[in-house]
Amino acid sequence: MPIVELSDSIRGDFGVRPLLSSHNLHQRDLFTDDALIELLDGYPREHLYALTMGNDDIQTDQNRLALHDGVSGASLLKAVKNGRLWLNITQVHRADRRYRDLIDELFAQLRARIPGFSPVSTEGTLLISSPNVLVYYHADATPSVLWHLRGQKRIWIYPALDERYIKRNHLEDIYAGVRHEYLPFDPLYDQAAVVYDLQPGQWLSWPRNAPHRITNLSSVNVSLSTEYITRDSRAHARVYVANRYFRTRLGFRNLSSRAIGPSAILKTTLHRVARKVGLDPLYLKRHVPAFRVDPDAPNGVIAIDDAAIGTIP
Ligand SMILES: [Fe+2]
Repeated sequence: MPIVELSDSIRGDFGVRPLLSSHNLHQRDLFTDDALIELLDGYPREHLYALTMGNDDIQTDQNRLALHDGVSGASLLKAVKNGRLWLNITQVHRADRRYRDLIDELFAQLRARIPGFSPVSTEGTLLISSPNVLVYYHADATPSVLWHLRGQKRIWIYPALDERYIKRNHLEDIYAGVRHEYLPFDPLYDQAAVVYDLQPGQWLSWPRNAPHRITNLSSVNVSLSTEYITRDSRAHARVYVANRYFRTRLGFRNLSSRAIGPSAILKTTLHRVARKVGLDPLYLKRHVPAFRVDPDAPNGVIAIDDAAIGTIP
């Protein structure tokens, strides 16, 4: 049975301010090297993304997707340990019943402790990442809770819904899926950040859409990211996507992001109709693979051109 610590004095911060507390998941066998290798070996690879990246916090477009078909779980983990890689094991709650049960238990405990918190759905992504790698400055459309399991990482969390740190247009585009989550970053933003050095056995939440960035310290990191949808977050998502439609197609600027009331109903209804009749085609942004995971390469990856040359008989 997982234990989620959340004292009465800080539970009101959930979803409102950054909130750090503790848990005991990291003591489970589910996250040992052997368990991770077994998970990776049997994993539906279309849901597993390997990414490598640069070293500069400002170059937020330097994420590169790496192919990993045919690479064993042990080799993937070796590449993470020796290289510069981030494995996003998405949909882990669907692929492995133990994760579904675990996430259900975690959220049952959060529901029990946080008045009014009632997610309509939850899901999980397991994150395995190399020492010293980073996640560029970005904002997520879906609210999440991060359960840290192995290693140490530093995370900076910036003010949510503040035009100085994230432009409304960018957030609307993220909601619509037409741009990646990564945002322009200025190191001066750090003056407004709340910073944590996360340790195994800690969990962290922050306000929906708050920009954040991460740097691993000198250890392999394992974390479980759980995303949740509430009626409120779902309504907001619809309004942001509708606002984007009215901005990009009809030139309306700065429409309200309020998710309730007649204006929200009108906008989301009109947008639904527009979408149905094909007036809002969305061209979803996707990474194009540039590398292939190679546990013996310096960064754990090899450029695809080089990989192709290596296979010529
Ligand atoms: Fe994130």
